[in-house]
Amino acid sequence: MRSKAEASPFYLYSQPQLTANFTAYRDALEGVDAIIGYAVKANNNLSILKHLQKLGSGCVLVSGNELKVALAAGFDPERAVFNGNGKLPWELRLAVQSGTLVNVDSEFDLANVSAAAKATGKVARVLLRINPDVDPQVGSLFLPTSPSSASFSCPFLRFPPPVCSKERENRLPGGKKKLKQVHPYVSTGLASSKFGIRNSKLSWFLGEIAADRGLDLAGVHSHLGSTISKVDIFRDAAAAMVEFVREIRSQGHTSLRFLNIGGGLGIDYTRSGAPLPTPAELISTVREQVSDLGLTLVIEPGRSMVATAGALVCEVTGTKQNGDKRFVVVDGSMSILIRPSLYDAYQHIELTAPHPGAVEDTFDVVGPVCESADFLGKARRLATPSAGGEMIFFFGAGFEVGARRRKRRKKLTLSKN
Ligand SMILES: Cc1ncc(COP(=O)(O)O)c(C=O)c1O
Repeated sequence: MRSKAEASPFYLYSQPQLTANFTAYRDALEGVDAIIGYAVKANNNLSILKHLQKLGSGCVLVSGNELKVALAAGFDPERAVFNGNGKLPWELRLAVQSGTLVNVDSEFDLANVSAAAKATGKVARVLLRINPDVDPQVGSLFLPTSPSSASFSCPFLRFPPPVCSKERENRLPGGKKKLKQVHPYVSTGLASSKFGIRNSKLSWFLGEIAADRGLDLAGVHSHLGSTISKVDIFRDAAAAMVEFVREIRSQGHTSLRFLNIGGGLGIDYTRSGAPLPTPAELISTVREQVSDLGLTLVIEPGRSMVATAGALVCEVTGTKQNGDKRFVVVDGSMSILIRPSLYDAYQHIELTAPHPGAVEDTFDVVGPVCESADFLGKARRLATPSAGGEMIFFFGAGFEVGARRRKRRKKLTLSKN
C-alpha cells in the first residue's frame, strides 16, 4: 500500500465501498421520486465526485467554488442544491444561472437570491430552509400531540409550547446523563441555530416569494445535524416538515414540489459495531407521505456516503514521554484531520503493521502543528510504534478534505503607498 503513495500522509479510498454506500441509498429510494444530493462538503475529491456522478448522484453545495468543481465533475445543476447561510452575490448568480435549486436562509439571503435572478434574467427555484426545532439528540420537544389540534393549524405562526416531550433515552439508569452523540457544533436544526429561518417568519417569506416573479417556491428544506444515531429523530423532523408542506400548500402555494430532509445519518466512528439507522430506515420515515403528497424527495447524505470509504494514513515520526504522558508524533495533524481538535471527536486509530512483541501502552497521538490543540487521538492503547511505522485513521476522509476547501480570495498584499 505504502509503495503506491507518493508521500505521507495520504488519504486512502475504497471505490467498492463508495459504490456500496451510494447503492444503499439508491435501493432505499426504490419507487420514490427522489434526488440523492451528495453533500460535497464532506469530501470534494474529484475522482469521488466523478464516481458518484456516474452512479447517478446529484449534489449539494455550499460555495460557488464547490459549484464549479461539481460542474467540472459532470453533475447536472438541475439536480443540485446550493445551501448556506452566507452565500455571496457572485455565488448566487452562478447558481441561478446554472439552474440549481437555491436554499433561502434569511431575509438578506432572499434579497440576494432575488437580485441574482434579476441579474441573470432567470427564475430562481428556491427552497425555504426551515428550522423544525428538533433536537438531534433527543428528537422533537415541540411537536404537538395531534396535528389537528387548533394550535397546529398554522404551525409556523404559533408553534405550540412543548406538549409531547418524549425525552428519549438520554439518561442512563440511575439518572446519569449519557454522553451526547451529536456535538452542539454539528446540531443545526434548533430554534437558536444560525441556519434557516424562524417558523414565526415563514408567512413573510411566503408572501415575498409569491410577489417576486423571479422566484419560484420549489420546496422546503431542513437539516437537523450530523452523526444522528436514532431513526426516531428523523421521523419527528419528517412529520414536522410534512405538516409545513401541507400548510404552505393550503395557503395557495401550490408550486411547492420538493421536500428536502437534509443529511445526517451517523457512522460507526468508534468501530464498536453499535447499530445505526440505515438509509432504508431513514427513507421509511417519509416514504408514504412523499408519495401521498406527490413530492420529490431530496436527501443530502455526506459522511454516510463517503467517510466509511476513506481513511487517512500517517507515518510515525517518533515517540516521546513528558511527565506521565506518552506521545506518538505523526506527520499528519489537525490541519488535515480537524474533527478531534475541533469538537473532541473520536477517530479510530490503528497501526497498520504493529511489531510483534511491541509493548502496549497508552498514548496521545499528536501532530507537528505548534498548538496543544493539535491532537488526533487521546489516551489510545497501542503497541509502541517505531519511527517510520504507519498509522491508519479510520473514516478520516469525511469532513476533513471538505472542511478545508471553502476557498475565498487570493491574499491581499499592501504596498508601501
Ligand atoms: C445542509 C446540510 N446538508 C447535508 C449535510 C451533510 O450531513 P451528513 O454528513 O451528516 O450527512 C450537512 C452537513 O453539515 C449540511 O449542513
